[in-house]
Amino acid sequence: MEIIICPDEAQVGVYAAAKIAKIAAGVGPKVVLGVATGSSPLTTYIELAKLEKAGKLDLSGASAFALDEYVGLPYTHPESYHDVIRRTVTEPLGIDPAKVSVPDGANPETAGEAYEAAIKQAGGVDVQILGIGANGHVGFNEPGSSLASRTRIKTLTAKTREDNARFFDSLDQVPTHCITQGLGTILDARHVVLVANGAGKADAIAAIAEGPVSSMWPGSVLQLHQYATLVIDEAAAAKLTHQDYYRQIFSTLPAWQRLDV
Ligand code: F6R
Repeated sequence: MEIIICPDEAQVGVYAAAKIAKIAAGVGPKVVLGVATGSSPLTTYIELAKLEKAGKLDLSGASAFALDEYVGLPYTHPESYHDVIRRTVTEPLGIDPAKVSVPDGANPETAGEAYEAAIKQAGGVDVQILGIGANGHVGFNEPGSSLASRTRIKTLTAKTREDNARFFDSLDQVPTHCITQGLGTILDARHVVLVANGAGKADAIAAIAEGPVSSMWPGSVLQLHQYATLVIDEAAAAKLTHQDYYRQIFSTLPAWQRLDV
């Protein structure tokens, strides 16, 4: 696991975008992105849009797959992930909306299989962008999720519903279920870039990077991925035991591994 510690949230966006752009350059304009919702990747999307504008990133033929969707929220609802992805990813990055997929929260019984088939049809995800929940979830794979899971319906924990209540008028309005890519689905992405900011993520980051691989901290499954990068701010890094080593690695990277920032 590669760990990049940045001074603040803005720099997390800069470095994560640079990492994604480097991967995308290796793939070409038809890159397949995996995209997350939530607060964490917002600075990354803003920086990706800047790189495009500067001619340093070509997403003209890109397609994208979202990680998850609430069950039972109309797609016109501003907090449905269909709408969040349109606002934060599809439009700012100028990706063809016909090439952007979000799991079908209106048809949860068949959505999982259909989504897996669509990802396969697209040739798989080249680079998956992830946030992480305070409880270690990635996608909405809550603690206890099978490390081999595929896209399916999941029940949201009380903690996740409370955390996400900030996006709704009240806790009652937060859906109780979702469709999420599984941990096995996420592991199939060719690269993974996880972003995290703030002290509220410090326990989760320490657990997934330095603790045992366990379904109790679902993000720890990334220890099994060959190309997983964590881009985190100082507060999210605060509980890592080997921070000094990660900083040393990053500051002494050979030229070909450095990021263009
Ligand atoms: C989003 C997702 C979640 C979030 C996580 C962190 O599509 O699947 O795993 O990445 O809940 O959310 P924020 O970034 O809002 O703290």
